[in-house]
Amino acid sequence: MRQPITRLALGAAGLFATAFAALAQVNPTANSVQEGALMEALQSGQSVTGRISIPDSGASVLIDPSGRTWASLHTGTLQWITIIAVLGMLALLVAFYLYRGRVRVEAGFSGRKILRFNIIDRFAHWLLATTFIILALTGLNLILGRALLLPLIGEGAFGTLSAWGKIAHNYLAWPFMAALIMVFVLWVAHNIPNRLDLEWIKQAGGLLQKNVHPPARKFNAGQKIIFWSVIIGGALLSWTGIMLLFPGEAGPGTGWQFYQVIHAVVSAVMVAIILAHIYIGSLGMEGAFDAMGNGEVDENWAREHHSLWVEEKLGRDAAKSPPPRARATPAE
Ligand code: HEM
Repeated sequence: MRQPITRLALGAAGLFATAFAALAQVNPTANSVQEGALMEALQSGQSVTGRISIPDSGASVLIDPSGRTWASLHTGTLQWITIIAVLGMLALLVAFYLYRGRVRVEAGFSGRKILRFNIIDRFAHWLLATTFIILALTGLNLILGRALLLPLIGEGAFGTLSAWGKIAHNYLAWPFMAALIMVFVLWVAHNIPNRLDLEWIKQAGGLLQKNVHPPARKFNAGQKIIFWSVIIGGALLSWTGIMLLFPGEAGPGTGWQFYQVIHAVVSAVMVAIILAHIYIGSLGMEGAFDAMGNGEVDENWAREHHSLWVEEKLGRDAAKSPPPRARATPAE
């Protein structure tokens, strides 16, 4: 028979071992968010954060209520802004075409050509144009693709298209920015607003009536509006786009959401403006495309749309080529 003191010692040792084993285990519910508290936070629109051991404080956010505001903006308001901008401009262009038809060269083609844009101008323009068009289509896919394209082409094709579209969007942004800088440097001197522009605007550039041709230098007021929209809009898209490419720079939460909203709204406005530009630079105005096609325009087209520029240009060209010298008389 064991002594009572030995039994007491064995009992104490057993108790100590059990307590030690319990302490060594991780308590799975200690310090974690209880389900009820989580649901309450979700319903009251609070943000839910956890504990992290890395320096990026943004990574501790589990649920950010501003994300839901952004999601509804993204799937609602931004989609509508984009649809209204694009369809609104297309409707305006159809109305303009029905009212005015194609803007013709009223004096007819003269057959004499004037160089309007050299190869460097045209390279910059087409680099800007092609990259912008692809960026616009791939960007529109992000805003409207799921609603409009997915039901038409199915999940597989939409997934592949969107994945390639995202890569194209991220990489073509760089040549777009390079072309934007080129276009700015090449044409800014011709796009400073002046008094002539007011007269051009008063007469709506002669676009609404036949036989009205307000005077203009190399770029008329309408083109200056296109130029500055492209430069300012393009700069805003570049800045917000870089912030979205490198979200670490934009800061957590609302930072990148703010840039995303600005990026989407500016894109919608720019797409609408560029639709008008493409129409008037191709189908809408006879003789206009040549300026960016082979660089040469018909003299009568130039006289009707850029009368002062033609005078300057012809004057300069004449000054450059001196009159033929009188033939020397051979000595007798
Ligand atoms: C197929 C598409 C396009 C066509 C047919 C086109 C056509 C033209 C033409 C013919 C001109 C010269 C007008 C003149 O003689 O003064 C021009 C100028 C210009 N283009 Fe385009 N373009 C297109 C796309 C774009 C795009 C996507 C952008 C920018 C994102 C752009 C930006 C400009 C700018 C800033 C000018 C100078 C200002 C002006 O003339 O309006 N173009 N374009």
